[in-house]
Amino acid sequence: MPTFKHLVTWTFLAAQTVVPAFAATAEEWSKRSIYQIITDRFALPPGADPTQCNPGEHTWCGGTWNSIRLNLDYIQSAGFTAIWISPINQNYIGPKTPYGDPYHGYWIQDNSQLNARFGTADDLKALSKELHARKMFLMVDIVVNNVMATSTTPDYSKYMFKDKSMYHPYCPIHWGIPESEQNCWFGDQKVPLPDVDTTNPTVVSTYHTWIRQLVQEYGIDGLRIDAAKHVNKDFWPGFVEAAGVFCIGEVYGGMEVDTIAQWQGPNALPSVLNYPLYAALKEAFVIPGNRNTTALAEVLTQEQEKFVDTTVLGNFMENHDVPRWHNLSVDPQSMYNAMAFMFMTDGIPIVYAGQEQYFSGNSDPWNREPLWPSGYAKTPAYELIARLNLVRNYLIHSTDWVTRPTDVLTVSENGIGVMKGPVVSILTNIGSPPRNGSSLAVQSPYQSSTALVDVMNCRQFVVGSDGWLDVEYTKGGVATILLPRDLLSGGPICPPSPNSQNVKGGQKQASSGMKTVVLGEWALGLLTLLTGIMMW
Ligand SMILES: *[C@@H]1O[C@H](CO)[C@@H](O)[C@H](O)[C@H]1NC(C)=O
Ligand SMILES: *[C@@H]1O[C@H](CO)[C@@H](O)[C@H](O)[C@H]1NC(C)=O
Ligand SMILES: *[C@@H]1O[C@H](CO)[C@@H](O)[C@H](O)[C@H]1NC(C)=O
Repeated sequence: MPTFKHLVTWTFLAAQTVVPAFAATAEEWSKRSIYQIITDRFALPPGADPTQCNPGEHTWCGGTWNSIRLNLDYIQSAGFTAIWISPINQNYIGPKTPYGDPYHGYWIQDNSQLNARFGTADDLKALSKELHARKMFLMVDIVVNNVMATSTTPDYSKYMFKDKSMYHPYCPIHWGIPESEQNCWFGDQKVPLPDVDTTNPTVVSTYHTWIRQLVQEYGIDGLRIDAAKHVNKDFWPGFVEAAGVFCIGEVYGGMEVDTIAQWQGPNALPSVLNYPLYAALKEAFVIPGNRNTTALAEVLTQEQEKFVDTTVLGNFMENHDVPRWHNLSVDPQSMYNAMAFMFMTDGIPIVYAGQEQYFSGNSDPWNREPLWPSGYAKTPAYELIARLNLVRNYLIHSTDWVTRPTDVLTVSENGIGVMKGPVVSILTNIGSPPRNGSSLAVQSPYQSSTALVDVMNCRQFVVGSDGWLDVEYTKGGVATILLPRDLLSGGPICPPSPNSQNVKGGQKQASSGMKTVVLGEWALGLLTLLTGIMMW
């Protein structure tokens, strides 16, 4: 229900043409966390039938920019400080293709127009304005590499670039050959994606004017760039400058840091999505899986060597192109520990809508579930993410944590211990079942007797001799994030209470009342007070 205040804002907005953006820099984005949305799938307008969305049908389910705006509380309450929305520009209009309808927004027809399916220009401005009123950033997905067609001889007049000479001639991509990946056409014979010639000077200057106006008109604070590695690298610096905001490119790949790192820097893009970390998180935390924490430690170290700036990389565990984490790994502790790592290491955390609801679809289209059947419940995963955002936002606000590099303290068969600034994170891949005799010993640089707090559950600990921290998993493998108690004083996290005394060489018992409110996996989750952690 729009309130009176909304209506006033709304009327006022309609009279405006330009929504001021924060013109956000990479440095400002490094302090954000992002919630990723496919506009069609996040929320329905009031009154719509909530039972009519089957991802398998590859068609629109009805989400709009207005319905995002009306449901921002759900995102902001989880501590996110930015959203990334799927492409906003006009898509293919025509009969359903063999691959369905362009509900996802990536089948660009005319970049010079908005996609009417998702609302009007004023709706988009109202979303931008509402985000800014909440001090949140708007990141918009754009497609520059290609347009969409239903044959290899399309009618070019319907595109923003209307002349055939502004496209590369049709050829199918030969994967692994960079030139072919950049100049040939994505897609296939049924839905070819004509490749825009981004070396053509008219194309380049038109794109510059286009992106400058789009960013200014809608108050866009950052861009996510689809298929960035399929465009000639030297196209990007000028484009980024014209945009005037932070840009993060999709450079799809695996654990190979070298090839992906080439796409960040003054001769390429300010940032890229962190596919190497994604691959390494799977390698380390998926259950059942390799549980190879060495691979994760190696990727972390290589990234610091090879990327220009790891603090602005886009970290993720899920997106609309890869399987849901819960499809790969059903044990919730696998997701919680990997999530805690992702929030506590270098980079900008990105959570794809639905991960907090344990969605478990595999590949496209099953990983594009509508969010509304979840009832926007505050699940344990939602609460864990909210906690991680709270801690991260606090650290960013009160320390220089965000600029400090993550160091690996320990790699073991049970998990990994890392340190970034003052924060020691001890993550495990043993999963939920309690394990007697299973522990993770981490040597920290802290002086013995330093008072630390596990900010996941407010348990207080004292550092042992020579800085040793020993985490036991007798109640299951939960994530542990330790901060010096002094750093938390006066803040909102784990304020001291008469009942939380230091516990030396032992663990505090849960109050019996706690057990009655926790359920199932939650009992093994972050808020359990039964965590078996002992400091010697
Ligand atoms: C773990 O990963 C490292 C680095 O990628 C690799 O050298 C090693 O062989 C892997 N170990 C296992 C058991 O797969
Ligand atoms: C993974 O996704 C596929 C396809 O959506 C589904 O059939 C399967 O049940 C999923 N697996 C899990 C563990 O959820
Ligand atoms: C772990 O040890 C405790 C106490 O010694 C015992 O009660 C419990 O059954 C053990 N659990 C497992 C999974 O071995």
